[in-house]
Amino acid sequence: MNMVEIITHKKLGQALTQEEIDFFVKGAAEQTVPDYQLAALLMAIRLNGMTPEETTHLTLAMRDSGDVADLSAIPGVKVDKHSTGGVGDTTTLVLAPLVAACGVPVAKMSGRGLGHTGGTLDKLESIPGFNISLSEEAFVDQVRRIGVAVIGQTGSLAPADKTLYALRDVTATVDSLPLIASSIMSKKLASGADAIVLDVKTGSGAIMHTLEGSIELAKAMVDIGTLANKPVAAIVTGMAQPLGTHVGNALEVKDAIDVLSGRTKGDLLDVSLLLGSHMLVLAGAAASAEEGEQKLREALESGAGLRKLKEMIEAQGGDAQVCDDLSLLPQAAVVREVACGQTGWVAAMDTTALGLAAQAMGAGRIRKTDPLDYSVGFVLPVRIGDHVWPHTPFCTLYARSEAEADAAEQAIRAAVRISSDPVERPPLWYAIVTKDGAKMA
Ligand code: URA
Repeated sequence: MNMVEIITHKKLGQALTQEEIDFFVKGAAEQTVPDYQLAALLMAIRLNGMTPEETTHLTLAMRDSGDVADLSAIPGVKVDKHSTGGVGDTTTLVLAPLVAACGVPVAKMSGRGLGHTGGTLDKLESIPGFNISLSEEAFVDQVRRIGVAVIGQTGSLAPADKTLYALRDVTATVDSLPLIASSIMSKKLASGADAIVLDVKTGSGAIMHTLEGSIELAKAMVDIGTLANKPVAAIVTGMAQPLGTHVGNALEVKDAIDVLSGRTKGDLLDVSLLLGSHMLVLAGAAASAEEGEQKLREALESGAGLRKLKEMIEAQGGDAQVCDDLSLLPQAAVVREVACGQTGWVAAMDTTALGLAAQAMGAGRIRKTDPLDYSVGFVLPVRIGDHVWPHTPFCTLYARSEAEADAAEQAIRAAVRISSDPVERPPLWYAIVTKDGAKMA
């Protein structure tokens, strides 16, 4: 067997055998197959697709290409949550403490920002002192003690995905359903959770822009989990606009603290409750999503969720006082209030462009090695469907300089369309996919 044969089979639209998949995944993990052959194969997969069997083989081969975390020392059902990526999408910081406050252990390995989307690790590192690099032992110990920990990947998790993902990023092969499904699920299966809740985004800021494509991705990932004997629920949620009103690392931490303090309601809270309620169901801590939501609301209202976030920050070396004094978070040099300047209804947003605007301000990386400015980003209080007047607050910019604030203002204005006709609010979620099928909203 050699790579040219494998590439040829996929070029001709044939299904790859398990042996062929194992061969190139091993080559990707050990970096013994040259990038140009892997890139050619990735493009052939992007163009000709994979059968469900091939996608499952690919996922399991990538899972087994490195370490598989052992969380068995943590009592209870460990449920993980993963988002396919969004803008202002801070659900982990809201739901991890709430779910833990309901007695369900949350042992979460998160990622960094990718392209226009934000990453939980970058947000957590905006909290002074917060350490995302715990050993597997310290990670397990913290979850046993306080019920929650959020860290970066330990050891060598799915190294084949690391190689393939880096190539996909620069060969226009990210948007391939079997490649996305196997990339996400290999890491989730390797991170050791007993059950998984997936937040599959759809809309202008999502990796899959169409609802059809998002549901198909959700189904593919649920099928893989089912075949691997892990219960998975995938919820297709809206990304037609940023989920929370805050975009940027420290700003999103502030948004999460505001939600857990009861000061902020809205879509970020509602989607966090929806995902969290399914985590409680999969963990056996609630008989239904409704009961799960009720428990989470009690943890929110009693302040138990916010207390759990403080405990987690403290346990991971961070300054938990940020929860009571938001001025301890990094502060931007330039703060600018911008008014709408138009009358009408907020009709649509190019959410990818909004994510890129935050990235250009310094909230995300353009090159892998770029340092972040945790303080920058923007608050966008307007939502699709809102009626606005010229004086209505449109956004607040948090920038490094007046020039960067000017560029961001221009980009954000261009990304938000205001129409003279009323527009309906987009739904919060569209479908819940489990092994029993898809339930539409
Ligand atoms: N997130 C991942 O981890 N992999 C993908 O392919 C897409 C999003």
